[in-house]
Amino acid sequence: MASHRLGFTYLSQEDLLDAGCFDLRMAIEVSEKSMLAFEDHRIMFPEKIVQIFDQVAQDRINCLPATLLDEKICGAKWFSVFPRNPKKYDVQNLSAIFILSEIEKGFPVAVMDGTLASNMRVAAIGAIAAKHLARENSESIGFIGAGEQAKMHLLAMKVVRPSLKECRVAAKTAAEEEQFIAELSPILSDMSFIGVNTVARDAMVGADILVTATSAQGPLLKAEWMKPGAFYSHIGGWEDEYAVAQQCDKIVCDDWDTVTHRTQTLSRMYKEGLLSHSDIHADLHELVSKHKPGRETEEERTYFNAVGLSYVDVALAQAMFERAKKAQIGDQLVLQETMVFEHHNIISKIRL
Ligand SMILES: NC(=O)c1ccc[n+]([C@@H]2O[C@H](COP(=O)([O-])OP(=O)(O)OC[C@H]3O[C@@H](n4cnc5c(N)ncnc54)[C@H](O)[C@@H]3O)[C@@H](O)[C@H]2O)c1
Repeated sequence: MASHRLGFTYLSQEDLLDAGCFDLRMAIEVSEKSMLAFEDHRIMFPEKIVQIFDQVAQDRINCLPATLLDEKICGAKWFSVFPRNPKKYDVQNLSAIFILSEIEKGFPVAVMDGTLASNMRVAAIGAIAAKHLARENSESIGFIGAGEQAKMHLLAMKVVRPSLKECRVAAKTAAEEEQFIAELSPILSDMSFIGVNTVARDAMVGADILVTATSAQGPLLKAEWMKPGAFYSHIGGWEDEYAVAQQCDKIVCDDWDTVTHRTQTLSRMYKEGLLSHSDIHADLHELVSKHKPGRETEEERTYFNAVGLSYVDVALAQAMFERAKKAQIGDQLVLQETMVFEHHNIISKIRL
């Protein structure tokens, strides 16, 4: 008789770090590959399920499923966003966990931390956009926001633009800027770092690459701060004045259709009739597949906005799972030893 034992690998964030999964080059490659698979219709990508518990604070837990047909893996990210956490409890806003199942028998194969992969994915997507839209020889990068997304973004940007030499950072407090610099300068020891004591203008003026990654809702980035030839990556909600997008020569999204349903700057502009489909140059996968061009001149200003593609998350989780498997890292947990009525002492366990 066939064994009816079911089990899966459990991977904590520490397991993933030990297995060498904090690898932004891998994240970029996996993200690109999954975008090409998406164009080839090799990805199933249904609507996410959203449950909002507080309309004002936007506390929510989302379930984001996707299937990688080539890898024969179906996964879901269970993703929490509780924006008040840092202020209220001094803990992180975002947390995530993945379930991955194979699609031959449909059994689960892994349950794993999803926070690392989520944050790496956001940065990898921004870096892929930079690869196609930022100047080849970019030397300076400016940030408004010094949190998790900003930190991860800098690491990923440096992978695609190793010419980066200077990083300027503005946050809500100078202490956050100092923490950003203290954490990242030992990793990127060939770069110089400048905290601008919360003056956003000083972080952005003259930068080749501009990144906003804030929890703010307002027009923080001014159009006049973005020089000709600069690339802007917009990560948070409403973070820039409308004139920023209006002056850009190319606007690219990870998924424009999804952007139209959200609340960030481009979404607002669309809903207010200030931006239409014809203003959008491409979705990012079209640059990756070379169906549309990226940067074409030294002088054009380029704008990128990502809202998040859950199939990329699942692809990254799958790649991390494979890497951990190779490194023989992770706990093997049992879901069931056998089927319910096959347990030899099942009579003693039934409550009627
Ligand atoms: N686009 C995506 O795919 C994606 C994915 C994940 C998170 N996000 C969004 O990215 C944003 C940042 O996330 P995080 O995890 O880094 O958050 P975080 O809480 O770690 O950091 C937020 C940063 O914003 C700064 N900030 C807030 N108000 C500011 C202001 N007025 N001026 C200057 N700086 C200000 C804070 O000082 C802090 O450094 C959030 O809005 C989050 O929802 C986007």
